Amino acid sequence: MSYKIERLSKYIFDDENYNKLANRIYYVTDHLTKDYPHHYEWYYQTHLPGVRKGNREVFFVQLHDNICGAAFVKKTDDEKKICTFYIAEYARNMGIGRALMNKAFDYLDTKKPLITMPASKVQFFLHFMYRYDWKITEIKDSYYTRGHDEIVFNGNLN
Ligand SMILES: CC(C)(COP(=O)(O)OP(=O)(O)OC[C@H]1O[C@@H](n2cnc3c(N)ncnc32)[C@H](O)[C@@H]1OP(=O)(O)O)[C@@H](O)C(=O)NCCC(=O)NCCS
Repeated sequence: MSYKIERLSKYIFDDENYNKLANRIYYVTDHLTKDYPHHYEWYYQTHLPGVRKGNREVFFVQLHDNICGAAFVKKTDDEKKICTFYIAEYARNMGIGRALMNKAFDYLDTKKPLITMPASKVQFFLHFMYRYDWKITEIKDSYYTRGHDEIVFNGNLN
């Protein structure tokens, strides 16, 4: 099994590839609109402009010509945040999530980044929580989706 993790910012001066890749990466995470109703707008109007500006990054994983996962991260003076972290089901339990997490840690320069997730997704991240001693710092009721708690680790949601 051979996979490759790259940064989208590597392609910012290659418009055609950049746009194609940005769209392909988005579609791997499109289903997250169920938990994050503004995911599409946020990705195209906030995150991608941040990649061009230099305070946000997209790490994406290519496995046999498919994009099977991505991490969207943000690094400013005030915030080191994993905004989105996802590996497609068919590519799980092969060590890809760990490798991608290490890329995010290196970029953010911390192993305890701000990260939030719906309560229903905590089960997927338990291993990372124990291994890196992530702490629940807030529980936000109906923050992104009415009736659903958003669990905040290692910081506060502004
Ligand atoms: C969390 C997630 C990224 C893990 O990805 P992955 O590629 O399967 O992770 P890995 O194979 O690298 O496994 C990471 C570690 O977790 C452990 N692990 C993986 N799956 C496990 C499971 N089902 N039970 C227990 N441990 C498990 C592995 O043994 C590994 O431990 P190691 O680092 O000591 O070797 C993936 O499950 C995922 O994306 N889930 C959905 C998350 C989601 O919905 N995100 C969007 C909203 S936040």
